[in-house]
Amino acid sequence: MVDNSEKTTHFGFRTVAKEEKEGMVADVFHSVATKYDLMNDLMSFGIHRVWKRFTIECSGVRRGQHVLDLAGGTGDLTAKFSRLVGDDGGVVLADINASMLKVGREKLRNNGVIGNVDYVQANAEALPFPDDFFDCITIAFGLRNVTDKEKALRSMYRVLKPGGRLLVLEFSKPTVKMLSKVYDAYSFHILPRIGEMVASDADSYRYLAESIRMHPDQETLKNMMSDAGFDNVNYFNLTGGVVALHRGFKF
Ligand SMILES: C[S@@+](CC[C@H](N)C(=O)[O-])C[C@H]1O[C@@H](n2cnc3c(N)ncnc32)[C@H](O)[C@@H]1O
Repeated sequence: MVDNSEKTTHFGFRTVAKEEKEGMVADVFHSVATKYDLMNDLMSFGIHRVWKRFTIECSGVRRGQHVLDLAGGTGDLTAKFSRLVGDDGGVVLADINASMLKVGREKLRNNGVIGNVDYVQANAEALPFPDDFFDCITIAFGLRNVTDKEKALRSMYRVLKPGGRLLVLEFSKPTVKMLSKVYDAYSFHILPRIGEMVASDADSYRYLAESIRMHPDQETLKNMMSDAGFDNVNYFNLTGGVVALHRGFKF
């Protein structure tokens, strides 16, 4: 029997050729870009703002530092980091998707976030930045969508300064059984309907629910980060493990 496991990956619950996934993910985010922020608030009842605030608190970012908000999309974290680093520092909002970057750039500029933010279209797997460059890298709800997660983690490690930290905010595995059942019912039955009503796109929100289930759980991601070179990797379960924030350092 031919083993195709090295050539295939997951797109939600489907097994697809590795070369196909990037284009399929691109279609999802081109389709949802203009409704992305509204959908985030509706789907999470606004709780994504609390998860993001916690991420900022754990970042330790100070004035004058350089931050990469990878898969930064519509720039919620970038806006906060821009204020923290001030005029002497800088934030790069990098995303593979031109539609998400466009919505992010317009939103941030309309909100007066200008001066210390650069926008770069880039794939997390091959970051176009020098070695040892950023004090902090965040990737929020992005790693799940990346085809080769190990390659992306190694790329992040390379561009992080010694002493810097990586924060991965991502959906994870609920730690409470009862919560898990409610969450499954919500994400497989209600989410696609909200997606259909608000963004006229049930499929993208079905992909969201499926991709969350296929993403590595807390311990697996922790090991992947250690394997990529990160030290002192730990994680915080948020909202009963629906989301986890992983943190690793480069020493
Ligand atoms: C769910 S959104 C998250 C946006 C933002 N970080 C937030 O938390 O609201 C996921 C983002 O990951 C981006 N993305 C997907 N694959 C990527 C890749 N290989 N490299 C960089 N960005 C990627 C998508 O274009 C999308 O903007």
